[in-house]
Formats: sequence, C-alpha cells, structure tokens
Amino acid sequence: MVGRTQLKIVRSPKRLAGEIAIPGDKSITHRALILSSLALGSSKISNPSPGRDCQSTMNCLKALGVRLIGQHGGGPTIVIHGTGDTGLTEPTNVLNAGNSATTLRLLSGVLATQPFLSILTGDASLRSRPMRRLIEPLRLMGAEIHGRGEDSFAPLVIRGGKLHGIDYSLRVPSAQVKSAVLLAGLFAEGKTTIEERQPSRDHTERLLRRMGVEIKSDNGRIYLEPLRAHLIPVDLCVPGDISSAAYWLVAGAIHPNARVKIRNCGVNPTRTGIIDALQAMGAKIKEENQRLEGNEPVADLYVESSQLRAIEISGDMIPRLIDEIPLLAVAACVAKGKTIIRGAGELKVKESDRIATTARELSRLGAKVEELPDGMLIHGGSSLSGAEVESHFDHRLAMSLAIAGLVAKRETMIYRAHVTEISYPGFWEELERLAR
Ligand code: S3P
Repeated sequence: MVGRTQLKIVRSPKRLAGEIAIPGDKSITHRALILSSLALGSSKISNPSPGRDCQSTMNCLKALGVRLIGQHGGGPTIVIHGTGDTGLTEPTNVLNAGNSATTLRLLSGVLATQPFLSILTGDASLRSRPMRRLIEPLRLMGAEIHGRGEDSFAPLVIRGGKLHGIDYSLRVPSAQVKSAVLLAGLFAEGKTTIEERQPSRDHTERLLRRMGVEIKSDNGRIYLEPLRAHLIPVDLCVPGDISSAAYWLVAGAIHPNARVKIRNCGVNPTRTGIIDALQAMGAKIKEENQRLEGNEPVADLYVESSQLRAIEISGDMIPRLIDEIPLLAVAACVAKGKTIIRGAGELKVKESDRIATTARELSRLGAKVEELPDGMLIHGGSSLSGAEVESHFDHRLAMSLAIAGLVAKRETMIYRAHVTEISYPGFWEELERLAR
C-alpha cells in the first residue's frame, strides 16, 4: 500500500499565474556549507537550499565536529563557525550522505586530506551510483580511498593523509568530481590543474575565488594553487535554484493560459542551458534585472504561454541542463515535431536511470518517447492523458511528471511524490497556489 502522503494528484488548471520565490540553489548551498566549515571564522549563509540533500551535508559536517547553527527546512540563515583547515575531527560513526551524490563526492575530496578515518555511505540509490570516477583522481593525488565492488560504489573508506597536486583530465563532465579534486587540491602539496572537455557548473571555482583562493580558469583548464592562508569566511546570499525554477518555466511555456514571474533566480551560464533550449523551442521567456549576488549572476524571469517546436540537443549543451532533461522531455512531448537529445549517457547514473524512467513514465501519459543509448527521441504534438505514474524515488522525475499533469486530460496520479523534499520541499504547495 502506498501511504496517502506519498501520492499526489495533479489536474490541468484553467489558468496558471503568479509570482514565485524559488528555494536557494542546492549546488551552491552544498559548496558554501563545506567551504565555510574549512574557513577560519564565522560565515553566514542566507537563503540556503531547504532540501534534504543539503541537510545531509549539514549532518555530515556536524558529525565532523563543525559548529553549525540553523534550521533545516527554511531557516533563512545558517551560521557556520569554521575553525580552519585543521578543524575537522574524526567522525565516531559512518557518515550518511542520504540521496546526495554532491555531499558524498565533495566531502570525499576534503576527507582524503584529513588525518583520520572516514566511512561514507548513502541510500540505495546513492550506493548504486558510480564512484570510480572519484576514486581514480583522488588516488592519483596519493589518497587512500576504497569503495565497494572493486572501487565502483559507496560505502567508501578513506584514510586521509598528505596529498600532492595533479594535472588531470576529467573523463566525464562532472562538476562533482571536478569539485572533489579541487577541494583535495586546496590542501595538497603543489598545484592542481584540471582539464574539462565540456564545461560543467563552476560554483566551486567562483566561491573559492571569493574566499581568497588563487584559482584561474582558461580555455577548458582550471589552475589551482594550494591554500597558503586560511579560507576567508563569507556572508553569502544564495541565489534561487534555476533547477527548481525550471519547473515553472516549462509549466508557463506549455500551459495555454499562463503567466509566471520567478524572482531572484541564479543564471550562471554553466546552468542556463534550460533557458536557452526553451527559448530555441519558441518559449516566451524574459530575463530582467540582471545583477551579481556574491560572485554569481542572478535575474528575475518571466514566462508565458508559448507555442513550442522540437529541438535537437547534444554536446556542450548537455552539462548545462543535465538535471533538467526529464523536464525538457515534458516540453518536447507538447512541442511540434521530433526532439532529439543525444550525448546524455550520464542520465543513466543519476538518482534513477533517467533515460529509462522518463521514457517509461511519460509513455504512461500517452507520450511517444523512444530510449536511445545516450538520450531520447520524443515525438511531440500528441496530447497527454492522466494516468498512474511513479517517481522511482527520483525528485526531478516526480516534479517533471507533475508539470506534465498540468497539461494532461483527466487526473495524473504520482506515486512516491514525497521525494520532491530532496531538492524542493515547498513544490506541491507552490503548484497548488499557481494553479488556483
Ligand atoms: C552537481 C553536479 C551534477 C548534477 C548534480 C549536482 C553539483 O552532477 O547532476 O545534480 O552540485 O556539482 P555530476 O557532477 O555527476 O554531473
């Protein structure tokens, strides 16, 4: 039996209108929490992501001896008393990253440099996600790190110690692996250079720069000097999460009677692939009041009902919208023509196999989606009909299905819908408010 709170029902409203304040960016919050813990002095993080993933990072940091004051689920400000780069202490238990790969991978980079033993694990989904990509570069830096299944998966065991910098070319475009190497490189001997063939989100680089680290990016290469002084604490206001705003952008574009404003959204160019893709499909999206918050670009976004056409996406665009692909598939179902998404094999190793789960669940709503080994082919233009669908415990799939439900005939019943708590605790309330 599925509990009532795990089931959400979505119907197509006559109108979708309103103004939305989205939660703080999840990627930036993880980084701010971790780096502030290593700074010397108190940092203040306002508008942190209220999602469960960032709570996992906070719990792990507390278990490592960090003094962190703030409420889970909407405490507007978190204060972190950083005690410098030698301030962490050996955890007395296994560190649990829950569903959050960012927590596990970024912390591994730090813990590989700390003079104690750490064991990191997560939920069933996280324990099935690839870790060799993380273990390999950290070992090249001299780290003692082991994973289950011949170094394929978590739990990971790390005996921290002295590392040396490396010159490393990322095998997959992963901001998590890049960040883990950068964090390890901060405390290593000698410089670290990373080559990325496809640019991934650069929040770690921006925040490190702000905290006084010598780090340069040039033509796909990142050059990092190890720390010579303590990281400088920050007073940071986290921009709204574009990956959460994306649901309302697509909802506004595909619903025939919609007008939505999204305030205070992060528009870092390494994350705005979803805006570019939707605009290329014909979505009426406007960006206004652009400004810099900390070291991150922010803007207000406006979207209204639009006639969408199909698109082809691949290559460098993919890392810029990797988390939004299930949602983009929803837009593609409504768009006129055949949408092709390629070069997105990474989707198979996210919170669920997002190629398989997106294709399966959208097909239940009457969409014509074909799975490709590295993407999807979506025949748009046919109307969607409500049905029973399943989140597969994947927060982004649950929210994408809800947006599909806004334009489907009859009711869409989403099972295991509570998983949206991972990144967007207020999602269902916001949906109800907009659709009223
Ligand atoms: C993230 C990087 C991406 C993204 C994830 C968050 C980050 O993962 O999919 O949701 O905060 O660094 P990969 O590094 O595995 O590509």
